[in-house]
Amino acid sequence: MEGKTKEILVDEKQIDDITRNIAEQINTDYKGKNLTVIVLLKGSFIFAADIFRRLTVPCKIDFMIASSYGDKTFSNGLKIKKDIELDITDKDVLIIDDIMDSGVTLNHIKSYLVHKYRPSSVKTCVLLDKPERRTENITPDYVGTTVADKFIVGYGLDFGEYYRNSPCITTLTSEQQAEVNGKISS
Ligand code: IMP
Ligand code: MG
Repeated sequence: MEGKTKEILVDEKQIDDITRNIAEQINTDYKGKNLTVIVLLKGSFIFAADIFRRLTVPCKIDFMIASSYGDKTFSNGLKIKKDIELDITDKDVLIIDDIMDSGVTLNHIKSYLVHKYRPSSVKTCVLLDKPERRTENITPDYVGTTVADKFIVGYGLDFGEYYRNSPCITTLTSEQQAEVNGKISS
């Protein structure tokens, strides 16, 4: 988390290519079907918008908010703060999140939706994958790019709720951390 210089991991052009490629794959895979996209807020809102506007299959969109509580290493420590409103029973569902880290969030959201609503299929899509950090037995179906085990911000991803507005994905600098810590304590 430390470095002094901001390292750009994924720039705007790369993000554009990634979202275009993923949308194309989704359009191919769901050809002839109806798709319900479920966006996990807040981190994936920009990524999901970039994917969603490029979908050409008939599709609906809904939103969920989940937060981990207590020790993040407890795999059952996930709370649904906002559930979906659309009926997804017997529907094809694609969950979009910003990043897969331990895999706890997507693994639990996926099994929650399957058990509660019985959709006909559920796939997962993330912009970023940190496979080194995985503790759950899950692999995202659509991945933008793999990143090393560093804390990253931008394009929706935050540190202390800041830096979601940065147009590209960067590592978090020590100055950025200090700036947020100053805002939190003041
Ligand atoms: P997981 O449940 O461990 O897979 O974590 C996924 C969630 O943790 C994501 O939806 C992000 O909100 C957050 N997260 C994980 N790594 C990072 C990061 O490097 N920067 C910002 N948020 C992260
Ligand atoms: Mg998140």
